Amino acid sequence: MTKRVAILISGGGSNMVSLVDSMTGDHPARPIVVLANSGTAGGLEKAAARGIATEHVDHRNFKGDREAFEKALISVLEPYSPDILCLAGFMRILTPLFIDAFKGRMLNIPPSLLPKYRGLNTHARAIEAGESEAGCTVHEVTSELDDGPILGQARVPILAGDTPDILAARVLGQEHNLYPAVLRRFAQGDRTPVFL
Ligand code: GAR
Repeated sequence: MTKRVAILISGGGSNMVSLVDSMTGDHPARPIVVLANSGTAGGLEKAAARGIATEHVDHRNFKGDREAFEKALISVLEPYSPDILCLAGFMRILTPLFIDAFKGRMLNIPPSLLPKYRGLNTHARAIEAGESEAGCTVHEVTSELDDGPILGQARVPILAGDTPDILAARVLGQEHNLYPAVLRRFAQGDRTPVFL
């Protein structure tokens, strides 16, 4: 049966677009909703232009009450009956309340080669540490930040003169290849990691 995919974003949604555009033809999944934590997230318009339902729950209305925010997210998502959730540049830390509600069916893409450089400013930290390569990881979401079984990784070189922005753009290009490749496998029930 075709899997129903919800995609959560916070910003421009370029990963969301690459996921949505990949789910055609014999792909085992289809996008059913794009949900943002702000009504001004640029990706919402891109999703709507592709005919995908859009929703937003503004985290600022919950004044730091993460669980209340997450309960609101869940009540927006439930009517869509998603089989798979893809976090695609969703910049809110999630608590076990939300993670347990979608256990085993939630994916995330941080811009780093996990287990290295969890969290923010990954590119600046990799350059500063003198790393020769960087990349991105798709993993299943568990209650530890940027942790959980690795479902795919893509590597890029760090070149002399790279700034965090230049490196971020190089990694983002690979995110757009990796995330759709992992989602296709995952939707088929195949958790064999993809390495690019
Ligand atoms: C991507 O680089 C993604 O890896 C990163 O945010 C960007 C979103 O771009 N995610 C994180 O940092 C998660 N902690 P996009 O909105 O164009 O997909």
